[in-house]
Amino acid sequence: MLYQIQTYGKQVLRTKTKKISEIDDDLRKIVANMFETMYAAEGIGLAAPQVDKSIRLFVIDLSPMDEEEGQRVYVNPQIIELGDEMDEYEEGCLSVPTVREIVTRPTSIRITYQDMSGEHFDEEIDGFLARVIQHEYDHLEKTLFIDHLSSLKKSLLKKTLKKIASGEIEVEASENFEL
Ligand code: NI
Repeated sequence: MLYQIQTYGKQVLRTKTKKISEIDDDLRKIVANMFETMYAAEGIGLAAPQVDKSIRLFVIDLSPMDEEEGQRVYVNPQIIELGDEMDEYEEGCLSVPTVREIVTRPTSIRITYQDMSGEHFDEEIDGFLARVIQHEYDHLEKTLFIDHLSSLKKSLLKKTLKKIASGEIEVEASENFEL
């Protein structure tokens, strides 16, 4: 089942997310639907608030850029360390259609999370996956990538954001690997 992707202006993107207490069939259904929704929109990452669910969950699949990659599910993730080194990358987001901006982020992170079997992981991650995880993790913390921009850049985006909030600009599948 395809979910409707929630876009800039929707309250759910600014709502605190709840820890997941049980990995059950309901959650498995949500995860399957999130992957389906993400693939339909040609995204590579999708967080639960983007499909109107205030829970600590996101999914990632980088296989369009790296054939050795596959489905990754992060339940109750916690970023516990950020590396010192930073880099820049032009990000996009399914919830902020048509907008792409350079965001500076740490190149490495340490994260704890559970997978769908409930197993706990504690991993150090760097490179592009670390970038995507930080973007999705932000969604769980009520943050959008545009919040990282300078006030000048934000003011230049004002009109576009208004159009997204009013529904004039809608989510469209693009080949830009949106997060
Ligand atoms: Ni996003």
